Amino acid sequence: MSNGLTVQNLSAYYGRARALFDVSLDVAPGEAVALIGRNGAGKSTTFRAILGLMKSRGGAVHFDGQDLARMPTHAIVRLGLGYVPEDRRIFSDLTVAENLSVGRRPARAGEAWTPERLYEIFPNLAELRHRAGARMSGGEQQMLSIARTLMGNPSMLLLDEPSEGLAPRIVEQMIEAIARMKREGLGMLVAEQNLAFARLVAERVYVIEKGAVRFSGTMAEFDAAPHVRDAYLAL
Ligand SMILES: Nc1ncnc2c1ncn2[C@@H]1O[C@H](COP(=O)(O)OP(=O)(O)O)[C@@H](O)[C@H]1O
Ligand SMILES: [Mg+2]
Repeated sequence: MSNGLTVQNLSAYYGRARALFDVSLDVAPGEAVALIGRNGAGKSTTFRAILGLMKSRGGAVHFDGQDLARMPTHAIVRLGLGYVPEDRRIFSDLTVAENLSVGRRPARAGEAWTPERLYEIFPNLAELRHRAGARMSGGEQQMLSIARTLMGNPSMLLLDEPSEGLAPRIVEQMIEAIARMKREGLGMLVAEQNLAFARLVAERVYVIEKGAVRFSGTMAEFDAAPHVRDAYLAL
């Protein structure tokens, strides 16, 4: 089994309702890939199924050669697959610095992330380091949520709609932060509805609709297939 993330024919259910239909995708180490689709297409469900957060799933998921079937979520995260859910999980009573120290976990390989290195990538967090999470804007909380996940020293990140609800100025900072994370060798699967954002952060794309992958290819291949965009992404 190769390194990175490999998902084969993943299915998942909410009760009896099937939510994912044979979703297959892969992300090589250090690669940035977008999973794009409209609201309700199945992006977050795909992440939850990969991480073992769904009670019922089928198919196969491997990460760095390890079979994730029946592995509890905390063990999957410990293998180096970091997760930033769409509902920004930070401790609102704790300061930025405290949130970061809570997220710390030893590095498995390479240089460990430190708050100082993260403040370089997220300069606005440096200014807010003594501010409580509750007193930050949505965009700042989103950055803190990512930074806190990086403190666990993952080798790959599942980022669920990082641009959602961000002011344009903050979106630019997010794009720059993701570019820097990529330069540090981090692999990423980024769920997005925002095509313009996905285009700026990822080199390859999967389009999901009604729980199934409808297209996969490079950004150039995606641009050469406008019918894909019209069929699955137009409002
Ligand atoms: N907890 C849940 N229980 C039942 N159905 C759900 C639940 N969460 C999501 N769904 C359904 O699963 C489908 C995919 O949702 P989701 O993965 O959240 O989409 P996306 O993240 O692409 O917006 C939608 O039809 C949604 O209504
Ligand atoms: Mg979602």
